[in-house]
Amino acid sequence: MKKILFATSEAVPFIKTGGLADVAGSLPKYFDKENYEVRVMLPKYMCIKEEWRSKLEYVTHFYMDWNWRSEYVGVLRLEHEGVTFYFIDNEGYFNGFAPYGEIFGDVEKFAFFSKAVLSTLPLIDYRPDIIHCHDWQTGLVPVYLDNFRYGNEFFRGIKTVMTIHNLKFQGTWDTKRIKDMTGLPEYYFVPDKLEAYKDANYLKGGIVYADRVTTVSNTYAEEIKTPFYGEKLDGLMNARSNCLSGIVNGLDYTDWDPETDPRIEKNFSIKNFRKEKVKNKVALQRELGLAEDPKRMMIGIVSRLTDQKGFDLIAYIMDELCQDEVQIVALGTGAEQYENMFRHFAWKYPDKVSANIYYSDPMSHKIYASCDAFLMPSLFEPCGLSQLMSLRYGTLPIVRETGGLKDTVEPYNEYEKTGTGFSFTNYNAHEMLNTIRYAEQIYYDKKRDWNKMVERAMEKDFSWNNSARQYEELYDSLLGY
Ligand code: ADP
Ligand code: GLC
Repeated sequence: MKKILFATSEAVPFIKTGGLADVAGSLPKYFDKENYEVRVMLPKYMCIKEEWRSKLEYVTHFYMDWNWRSEYVGVLRLEHEGVTFYFIDNEGYFNGFAPYGEIFGDVEKFAFFSKAVLSTLPLIDYRPDIIHCHDWQTGLVPVYLDNFRYGNEFFRGIKTVMTIHNLKFQGTWDTKRIKDMTGLPEYYFVPDKLEAYKDANYLKGGIVYADRVTTVSNTYAEEIKTPFYGEKLDGLMNARSNCLSGIVNGLDYTDWDPETDPRIEKNFSIKNFRKEKVKNKVALQRELGLAEDPKRMMIGIVSRLTDQKGFDLIAYIMDELCQDEVQIVALGTGAEQYENMFRHFAWKYPDKVSANIYYSDPMSHKIYASCDAFLMPSLFEPCGLSQLMSLRYGTLPIVRETGGLKDTVEPYNEYEKTGTGFSFTNYNAHEMLNTIRYAEQIYYDKKRDWNKMVERAMEKDFSWNNSARQYEELYDSLLGY
């Protein structure tokens, strides 16, 4: 049995701010259980819902050398859908309404978490063969492991994988402060190790010290070797390119299933979507106070409202787009300027635009199920899960050709009758608008072709099956199988 431990800052169903939670929470279920046992370790945030917190069982606690003092580390556990989840407890660090706050606090919180992950292992008598780290929050795990190996037999031979879900966030802070707080020796704080541009950089540490580095699509794995996408680490990505690969994300197909989804008005399948899917649209129009019209093309957006996702393009053409026969339903929170942008257009075009500025899992399901198209014009996109959810629910993605969007959405070709969505190349608002209008034209004038495309979209398999096999191969190669 190969033992793998995921170290992550979020995982569904416990805590989620974005796609990382979907991946870390669902991928472990899809490994071949005969040969791989994957467990997950995450912080026990106060903001985890009480329904979960009350189910956690106490395992042990200890005091860890930390920041010139001795700090409490509690360990709890829960078996969920066949996977063991460990929760690292420390009320001082993991309080608050959200997993993340100001960066100066977060760097301390996640350095603590990373050291605690390793320190816990001998005490619970669990020695994984591989620790699989996710994003900057766990970037110090491979670094601490390197440090712990000296003089401690237990840690020798444990391998690490670092998965980059988003290179933009690196966890950087003043070197002196990080050195002081983490207790890591001077030796690590140089430009070919933890340091980048004079600061300490957690993700860089992870990338330098992990045995393998992966990211969440092939295209993004290539893109991050260039200055435009490399977030100032493109040199490092090139240097590590022989250990770097892309494995595209999958979806939890049991959770995201239009045939059984209890959160949507009317279930549907590839066989009956022509009649049934639209009932979701009408119900949503009613719920959100939009004009009730089953024929009107509805475009959905479910997203963190940040620059990454292309909202400056959307803001630029919203007025023009609202002259068309479309409805736009947005769900998201984030940058105030984009929250207000959607509120403004919802006020200006009340029967066409619905701005839902909050976080809601059930509402996201309703939007994926109800809309005809889904808009995701990202500036960059390591993988993206929203377009996969849309495909699964027969909602055709309109995307920019970048990262995982390029790898998962095949653009419509009206001559060959192929494709599962619409895409454009340049980060340009009118190129996007033209693509949306092209989609409108197919929707209104070539409904048969549109429906064929929906069929192809729903037929695509983006379950974890393929990608979990690729992770298994990666683990095998690391362990010398
Ligand atoms: P990222 O991780 O960059 O935010 P992804 O497309 O990989 O982008 O994943 C985003 C996930 O978060 C999807 O599951 C999406 O449905 C969900 N999501 C984003 N915003 C909201 C929201 N306001 N309410 C509910 N779910 C949301
Ligand atoms: C990040 C990326 C997103 C990806 C997700 C899960 O948040 O922005 O593209 O799908 O991680 O890997």
